[in-house]
Amino acid sequence: MKLNKHYTELNESYLFSTIARKVREFQAANPERDVIRLGIGDVTLPLAASVTEAMHKAVDEQGRKESFHGYIPSEQGYEFLREAIQRYYAKNGVMLDISEIFVSDGAKSDLGNLLDLFDVDNTVLVPDPVYPVYVDDNVMAGRTIHYMAATAENHFLPMPGEDTEGDIVYLCSPNNPTGSTYSVEQLKVWVDWAKAHDALILFDAAYECFVTEPGLARSIYEVEGAKDVAVEVCSFSKIAGFTGTRCGYTVVPQAIVKENQSLNKMWLRRQTTKFNGVAYVVQRGAEAVFTEQGMKEIQDNLNYYRTNAAVIGKALEDCGVWYCGGKNSPYIWLKCPGGMDSWQFFDWLLANAGVVGTPGAGFGACGEGYFRLTAFGDAERTREAAARIKAAIQTL
Ligand code: MLT
Repeated sequence: MKLNKHYTELNESYLFSTIARKVREFQAANPERDVIRLGIGDVTLPLAASVTEAMHKAVDEQGRKESFHGYIPSEQGYEFLREAIQRYYAKNGVMLDISEIFVSDGAKSDLGNLLDLFDVDNTVLVPDPVYPVYVDDNVMAGRTIHYMAATAENHFLPMPGEDTEGDIVYLCSPNNPTGSTYSVEQLKVWVDWAKAHDALILFDAAYECFVTEPGLARSIYEVEGAKDVAVEVCSFSKIAGFTGTRCGYTVVPQAIVKENQSLNKMWLRRQTTKFNGVAYVVQRGAEAVFTEQGMKEIQDNLNYYRTNAAVIGKALEDCGVWYCGGKNSPYIWLKCPGGMDSWQFFDWLLANAGVVGTPGAGFGACGEGYFRLTAFGDAERTREAAARIKAAIQTL
């Protein structure tokens, strides 16, 4: 028996596990300190009433013989949910065939599982900084990773150049961690590049619900021709607070055919073999997100988080700290003050303000010197955190 040697190439622990451990150690050493967590992008508002009502009803159905559901008829997801997702895209002008939509237990799993479809020899292109899952998934599989620098100079939105090479490209927009968001025009450049280079784009749209500015893309399929070269992964975690409920979906267009094989058929084959679908109760809850009442409740929740982002942004402006994000995104990406590096600022902020954030360096080398704060916290605690951050930075 031999182990997968690539695990030795990973950082010792996943970024958010490292942070959780450091916070536990801090709390053990300082039990009297009140710590506010604005690190991992976990939501704090409960599920919307429409969602829980739908789930209660589904639980009752599961308790009666005549309405009980066993194995899901299609591992791809119930038609009622896939049709609701189809209508959600259509409202945004994107037409999908229902066979292109696959319901899953979340974007994180799909982002890793999709790699089953690709040869290990493919070169992977990822922005730096980036959601660490893209990198770790590919390190585990032993793929070569190339990084595209996302810096203040390119507004944290790397674009392909003449010498950009790669077989699989990850794009995340609105971006985790920087909050920057590609316009439809910029994504068109990526789609054209992918076509010219026979490459595939894995587009992570988990934060699309935060986009409000016209011209910015919510889906890569707003670009004509993107269905030939892009798979889109999305989640109910951020739009509807499903971080603890688990549901997401992936769009694999029928148009993607490589080496005479349909990527959609390959993904269906993979999912039917390795996945038995998402719980009926959860899919009924997810369906309710897209009802008129569900959408209204969800917009109220998104506005709550948008207000948190504005509160954090204002505090940073007041103490002269540069930041971006927080407008079409729940993340605020700030330059560490006082010349501190990312982890120094993490420790300093925890010690001096009792606030937890995420060090930019944890998302990649280009994130060094930056720091991420999430707007998904409780509003009162976020106001308290913003006041503490401001007061602490003003002492520097
Ligand atoms: C984050 O904080 O980057 C995200 O919440 C992590 C995730 O969605 O898995």
